[in-house]
Amino acid sequence: MTRPLAKRLGTDSEGIAAAAACLQAGGIVSFPTETVYGLGVDARNGIAVASVYDAKGRPSFNPLIVHVPNVGMALQIAHFDPLSRKLADAFWPGPLSIVVPVNPDAGLSELVTAGLPTVALRVPEHVLAHQFLIACGGPVAAPSANPSGQISPTTADHVLHGLGNKIDAVLDGGPCPVGVESTIVRVDGAQVTVLRDGGITREELSACLGEPVIAAGESATPQSPGQLASHYAPSVAVRLNANTAQATEVFIGFGPKATAADLNLSRAGNLIEAAANLFADLRRADAMARDTGATTIAVSEIPMRGLGLAINDRLKRAAAPRG
Ligand code: TXA
Ligand code: MG
Repeated sequence: MTRPLAKRLGTDSEGIAAAAACLQAGGIVSFPTETVYGLGVDARNGIAVASVYDAKGRPSFNPLIVHVPNVGMALQIAHFDPLSRKLADAFWPGPLSIVVPVNPDAGLSELVTAGLPTVALRVPEHVLAHQFLIACGGPVAAPSANPSGQISPTTADHVLHGLGNKIDAVLDGGPCPVGVESTIVRVDGAQVTVLRDGGITREELSACLGEPVIAAGESATPQSPGQLASHYAPSVAVRLNANTAQATEVFIGFGPKATAADLNLSRAGNLIEAAANLFADLRRADAMARDTGATTIAVSEIPMRGLGLAINDRLKRAAAPRG
């Protein structure tokens, strides 16, 4: 969607309040962190989260990092084992994102986590980011503020140049001091895996833990960001490009013509709404199939434009044969 050119907001209290109000109303607000500029949306608003994938032109639903102002809010959103907590206490606020099991009652849109049972959380150190997150009052999902496939922006001008007509506002806090993305870690039992190298070095992590950390490629079960094999997959088979459903199928429709569907991703045929509903509807259809003994989830054809690319990518994975 093309919008009027994004407003450049100042770092005074008026600018911060305007930025937070815009985000709370469902808008996309770019804000600086110590690493790179992020593209912030309310992490509990599925339509807003879908619109951020749309703005970036991402061809797939990579899960997003959720930004919070302090450890207290992080503890409400996810479950922290003792090692994750130790890392949070040592490195937050700072350029570290920690992948932890999400609390299903936290109200995050399922699109934020791309249906995963975990969420990547981060408390940024940047003063303006902190003030903005406090003013927002809730979790803010934010991928780096670049069009998909381009490098991450470290100034407000970069953001406006790449996405100026796709977002609502940018909080201009000058250049980002760290300039590379946050380090992403995940704890499994006693093992800490670095999923992405970034602002906190492996040496700093090891020094805190008293043990070496391993990189995703070196672990027994590799799981690097962007190629997560364990995205949500329904327990029954999935059939794509269905016009009608058989008696043994639960039917997920799309658009006004799918009147016989059990669920509809978007009656209006709106791809942003469809993306916002995708993971919850797959889960709902799966439960309906289990309840009724249906063997398959049939899904209407989704057009291959805009967010339709990412929706089809996800559906194709859900429909792929499983080993
Ligand atoms: O420095 C940063 O981290 C910046 C600023 C804005 O905070 N954000 C950023 O977000 O780089 P993004 O969306 O460009 O990268 C997020 C990465 C993706 O590679 C994604 O796969 C990974 O985080 N990720 C998010 N949730 C995850 C999860 N539950 N498990 C594993 N990886 C996850
Ligand atoms: Mg990025």
